[in-house]
Amino acid sequence: MIKKYRIGQPIPTDSVVKEFPLSEGEIPYFNRNDAKKELSLTLDKKDKVYGLGETIRGINKRGWIYTSNNSDDPNHTEDKHSLYASQNFFVISSKTKELGVYIDTPGIITLDIGYTDLNTLTVSFEDFDADIYLIEGDSILDIVRQFRDIIGRSYIPPRWAFGFGQSRWSYMTADEVIEVADKYEEAGIPLDMIYLDIDYMEKYKDFTVDEASFPKFPEFVEKMRKRGIHLVPIIDAGVKMEEGYDIYDEGVEKGYFVKKENDENLVAAVWPGKVHFPDFLNDEARKWFGDKYKILLDQGIDGFWNDMNEPAIFYTEDHLKEVFEAIEDYKGKNLDIQSFFAFKDLVGSIDNNEADYKRFYHDYKGKKIRHDKVHNIFGYNMTRAAGEAFERLVPDKRILMFSRSSYIGMHRYGGVWCGDNKSWWSHLLLNIQQMPALSMCGFLYSGADIGGFGCDTTEDLLLRWTAFGIFTPLFRNHSAMGTRRQECYRFDSAPVFKEFVRLRRALIPYLYSEYMKAALNNEMLFKPLCFEYDDERSAEIEDQLLLGESIMLAPVYKQNTTGRNVYLPEEMKLIRFRAYDDYDEEILGSGDHYLRAELNEILVFIRKGHVLPLAEPSKGLGELGKDELDYICYEAEPESYEYYTDDGETPLK
Ligand code: GLC
Repeated sequence: MIKKYRIGQPIPTDSVVKEFPLSEGEIPYFNRNDAKKELSLTLDKKDKVYGLGETIRGINKRGWIYTSNNSDDPNHTEDKHSLYASQNFFVISSKTKELGVYIDTPGIITLDIGYTDLNTLTVSFEDFDADIYLIEGDSILDIVRQFRDIIGRSYIPPRWAFGFGQSRWSYMTADEVIEVADKYEEAGIPLDMIYLDIDYMEKYKDFTVDEASFPKFPEFVEKMRKRGIHLVPIIDAGVKMEEGYDIYDEGVEKGYFVKKENDENLVAAVWPGKVHFPDFLNDEARKWFGDKYKILLDQGIDGFWNDMNEPAIFYTEDHLKEVFEAIEDYKGKNLDIQSFFAFKDLVGSIDNNEADYKRFYHDYKGKKIRHDKVHNIFGYNMTRAAGEAFERLVPDKRILMFSRSSYIGMHRYGGVWCGDNKSWWSHLLLNIQQMPALSMCGFLYSGADIGGFGCDTTEDLLLRWTAFGIFTPLFRNHSAMGTRRQECYRFDSAPVFKEFVRLRRALIPYLYSEYMKAALNNEMLFKPLCFEYDDERSAEIEDQLLLGESIMLAPVYKQNTTGRNVYLPEEMKLIRFRAYDDYDEEILGSGDHYLRAELNEILVFIRKGHVLPLAEPSKGLGELGKDELDYICYEAEPESYEYYTDDGETPLK
């Protein structure tokens, strides 16, 4: 049962697609403090809190402060409060009942979940305007199902998007892209996508292609497609200011860029230097920008990633001017403790400066609204621009789309990648812990940069991360400029990567089937153990996941270990894969086990009464009938597996 309460006059986000009558009276469970702009409730010592989508920290969110304030911060350390997303849905689970809470507001809120006081959950609002949905149900999964039902069906990618992708900031030329494809081919590692980062563009101008480094682009796209590789270009939120660049000229002429108080277009800077930001919140501007994707669709492109859409701001012209003026005062001074730190702050806070988010306005649903009030739905609306355009432009085709910034509602138009993580073992664990929370919020097509984006990866980290990545819908190796190259073929373990990626191919019928069932029935793809098992130990497992109906995963995420402790809430069949067709089976009883997993092994646990279908890797991406699959069963018959398949291309109505 869902009840909707309203505080103040919330700005709509279009995240909920179903109409609800407003419930009158006090908001149950919560204490409301209008003076402090807070809602709070007391948690029992044993209550757990799950959800919030892409955030830092563990599966149970207790013990930290999370701020919904979409941020471009590449340091995802434990001390942070915000990442690129705001997904304000969580479930409080106690011994006696479960409560789902969705706080729908496009502005900034803070969730103190047992940080200030161990047993108090407090939500504080910058503006006390929000729609609050309270969801009661029989179980956490039931609550999630009800929530997902009101926010609409999750994005459905083409089936080829379940392949393996290689990315790097940046492959600078078509020749470099060809070399990557060749080297993968030589190593026998199947490759389905190569991602084009910002350098494919001419001077970082959206929807352009650099003629010199990527000549005859449509032919190049076609040539790669013939090799089975989709090229997936990045699109950035900022539009370069350059007279003669049609998108800039049109945007200025039509008034589609965000404006300052005085009605001048905001001048910010990102990769191309000075840019204007399209007002994605404005229906007309959104349609206009969305139509631009046609420029690349017409050249054979069928997938995109939307970036820097928090929006990331290197500087604004106005703020930079203020900084330069202020710097004058420091010139020639003997900087003491106060003035030195003030100076350092001044210079160090040029990018993504909070004050800059208050300098510009949107024309949203007929009202002029200052950006910070709707900050968290900016990236969502950029991806919505694309998603709505694809429905108009290519109604018969599914297009791959994922974004860095997000808000609930965007899950209908695309997936997410978890931004600029690092080549750290702790970020492999973070990736594992983010997946179920993303599933709760409807972001099914998601994944992290495998191997880590920033810093230098190591061969063993890349192996272990790939061993987990083969299970995430978005399966992409991506790294930053200046870091160690991390394409799989560069390592002695190339033959192991080959078997891992082939195993992924073999798993696609299962992954796709489970993905589609999750999307169509509002189910979760990745679940913490305790969403299905109600013993106390399961509720404390932070590093094992259920994936779909049949399997449990227990990835190794520590360096220099050849095994790990695994908790089994019930008897399961362990499959120790070395290759899709080379594995051992073992029945394990419920309870604790120390299990070995060498760097070339992947542990998969089949639940009792369940079935894992597998394809021959070369056929994995195609539409296969049930009789074309192999099955590993544990006290179940292949027939009992509810298999979903379709052509993988036609959009679902
Ligand atoms: C941002 C993205 C990263 C990309 C880089 C260059 O940092 O998060 O994935 O490689 O920009 O475009």
